[in-house]
Amino acid sequence: MALKFPEGFLFGTATAAHQIEGENRWNDWWYYEQIGKLPYKSGKACNHWEKYEEDIGLMAELGYNAYRFSIEWSRIFPEEGRLNEDALNRYTEILELLRRKGIEPNVTLHHFTSPLWFMKKGGFLREENLKYWEKYVETVADILKGVKLVATFNEPMVYVMMGYLTAYWPPFVKSAFKAFKVAANLLKAHAIAYETLHGSFNVGIVKNVPVMLPASDSERDRKAAQKADNLFNWNFMDAIWSGNFRGAFKSYRVPESDVDFIGINYYTAAEVRHSWNPLKFFFDARDAEIGDRKTQMGWSVYPEGIYRVISKMAGYKKPMYITENGIATLDDEWRKEFIVQHLQYVHKAISEGYDVRGYFYWSLMDNYEWREGFEPRFGLIEVDYDTFERKPRESAYLYGEIAKKGEIGE
Ligand code: NOJ
Repeated sequence: MALKFPEGFLFGTATAAHQIEGENRWNDWWYYEQIGKLPYKSGKACNHWEKYEEDIGLMAELGYNAYRFSIEWSRIFPEEGRLNEDALNRYTEILELLRRKGIEPNVTLHHFTSPLWFMKKGGFLREENLKYWEKYVETVADILKGVKLVATFNEPMVYVMMGYLTAYWPPFVKSAFKAFKVAANLLKAHAIAYETLHGSFNVGIVKNVPVMLPASDSERDRKAAQKADNLFNWNFMDAIWSGNFRGAFKSYRVPESDVDFIGINYYTAAEVRHSWNPLKFFFDARDAEIGDRKTQMGWSVYPEGIYRVISKMAGYKKPMYITENGIATLDDEWRKEFIVQHLQYVHKAISEGYDVRGYFYWSLMDNYEWREGFEPRFGLIEVDYDTFERKPRESAYLYGEIAKKGEIGE
């Protein structure tokens, strides 16, 4: 028997500006790519900035009815106070084309990259810099007319942990104190954007939620997994409404705010073991040993996790969208299986009454996977990085059939 999704359910794909557009010369990532602090350069990426018509055309042909992408702040304001109208116009064209093709846009305002000039002033570490963020939000609001779903931040805790705790990503800071301060300021920035945009748009936030599994059955490991789960996954969400953000060492007052929807990015499960050090368990967390294969990212596949995350996120009583779910592999059969299995669990959640309104596969096409460069292949569409030719994989057609019918076979 086929599993039918509710009328109006969004079957989309997701991308992010720096990963696909190419030539994003004004942001922090680009800068660190050039000076050799990052192993790979994004360069022309997928050259989407020039090929957006072809890409949107492909989405429509394949039958997807929604698309999540991000706006690159550093294109809009390449220098402090200098507005780039051409960039605004390009995003307006993208939105118009999506509208004409009947594809529902889901726009993210911040997806890991920030203007270099903003970062030189201390970025989100300094609360006084939030005025620049506010200006950016007000400026893009003008071109978003008619867009229903607008997310403020993509994976705020990933941004914080990678940029300020593990120092694996720009700006390569290693300070737990600064990390949680940045997180608190992101909550303030979210509140500012919510105030500005709510009323005209449904304003959401996109949270990455790995399932945290204890490394063993011991009480200590179970407590450690619980702690990691709170620190990484739920404290940030709770703070949106409570105005109290619990960091690793202290709590921060942030404005009480709200969201109109929650985006869930779900990929995998982590294994957590006990440590007396308050943050070591985080550094020691490893990918859980589930199944017998690992993806190109070294992640295991745990479809049931998507259901577990939805059921927990439902506690906030907001409409939910799976804003990312995907697999990096050269084995497209595995990708097909991955999509169907995860959608089965999404369907189970919906049939039990959980309010999930859409699913966005990561990613529409192969792209620049941050520190991992171009090797991981997440795309439904294969990209040839020499010619920029696009070639839909079988999984792209399978997902298109699912989207057009609004159902999956069991
Ligand atoms: C989440 C991030 O939002 C996205 O930028 C990244 O490419 C995928 N996960 C895959 O790692």
